[in-house]
Amino acid sequence: MNVAELLADKRVCVCAGSGGVGKTTTAAAIALGVAAAGARVAVVTIDPARRLANALGLEQLDNEPTRVDPERLRGSGLELAGELWAMMLDPKRTFDELIDRVAPSGERAEEIKANRVYRELSTAVSGSQEFTAVSKLYELAETGGFDLLVLDTPPSRSALEFLDAPGRLTSFLEGRALKAFLRPTGIGMRVLGRGAGPLLGALRRVTGIDVIADATTFFSLLGGMTSEFSARAARVERLLHAPETAFLLVTSAESEPIDEAVWFRRTLRDRGLPFAGVVVNRFHHDLGARGGAGAPGGDADIGGDAGIGGALAHALGAELAGRVASNLSDYHVLAERDAANVARLEAELDGEPILLVPQFDGDVHDVAGLARLHRYLFSSDSERTMLIDDLVA
Ligand SMILES: Nc1ncnc2c1ncn2[C@@H]1O[C@H](COP(=O)(O)OP(=O)(O)OP(=O)(O)O)[C@@H](O)[C@H]1O
Ligand SMILES: [Mg+2]
Repeated sequence: MNVAELLADKRVCVCAGSGGVGKTTTAAAIALGVAAAGARVAVVTIDPARRLANALGLEQLDNEPTRVDPERLRGSGLELAGELWAMMLDPKRTFDELIDRVAPSGERAEEIKANRVYRELSTAVSGSQEFTAVSKLYELAETGGFDLLVLDTPPSRSALEFLDAPGRLTSFLEGRALKAFLRPTGIGMRVLGRGAGPLLGALRRVTGIDVIADATTFFSLLGGMTSEFSARAARVERLLHAPETAFLLVTSAESEPIDEAVWFRRTLRDRGLPFAGVVVNRFHHDLGARGGAGAPGGDADIGGDAGIGGALAHALGAELAGRVASNLSDYHVLAERDAANVARLEAELDGEPILLVPQFDGDVHDVAGLARLHRYLFSSDSERTMLIDDLVA
């Protein structure tokens, strides 16, 4: 099984997973692979490493996909039969565009965008990236004309943030909670009551910020738009639940991300969201013990170290050989741990595929690196086994 087969009848692929596991790189490699095979693909990346962004020609944030010049792939061994488009998400701009679209008039949109509560909200890192990523995805699905959209997800600590944050922000924009809070007889006033009055007054004098007044203005400006937010949220939910959408879980083989992946898998199942499979990135194959094995749950053989140490001593001298052998033995421990974690994940799945991508010896920050990742994602099972055997050589 490979990514091309997984995404054969899909129009949206959401790469989700815990922080730092390789979501952004995997999303880019997937988009590259599907475009290489002939499709018109756009990848929406979030905070890509600068070097990766440069490699794709993403020098500025213009918040719309731009076409990646096929020349950039020269020398990577890949040719683009289709079109690769890429963008870096600009949450503030996406939020502004949403307000422009939803506001009844340009004037109202400007007023909202100038409001302090709105400015805080649209630039807050937590929540607004998730919200705007999904919002952008929806826009592109509606109007972009792409065969496939690949969405990277924000570097949240928890993968589940991605599923929950957009809804939280929508219900905030719908204003129910805050309106109740701010009503003169609402709980907010009762709680804040006499105690908070002087406090907020002092805050206003010192900072010039009148929180309550700003919030009240904000919600009155949004008045009338709330049903549009709800309707949009419902359409976005439909897109995420559609059979043409696939959530692809990206994880490393470490314990915590695997736990997270298990949780994420369960949550997708509970919410009826479409799940395609898992990419376990930065996997340590048990190279010393390989003889065509290395599949998840495959046996790790750590018995050979003494023999290898002995053979190396001849070639390298005792001290260096000792260090190499001890490195190898550390690697075996990592490989065993990875295999056990992946087996644990596998037990959670309903037979959906797990694609293993090895830990490379350097970062993936250029087109050659993406092409390398691409080989593991897009090759057949037997080709992949050969690639892993080549790692030993
Ligand atoms: N298979 C790999 N081997 C070695 N390095 C890798 C591999 N995959 C990704 N990397 C490197 O790991 C780092 C993190 O990758 P990436 O930025 O894609 O993760 P992420 O999940 O998007 O992180 P964040 O949650 O912060 O957005 C990058 O420096 C990338 O080059
Ligand atoms: Mg990332």
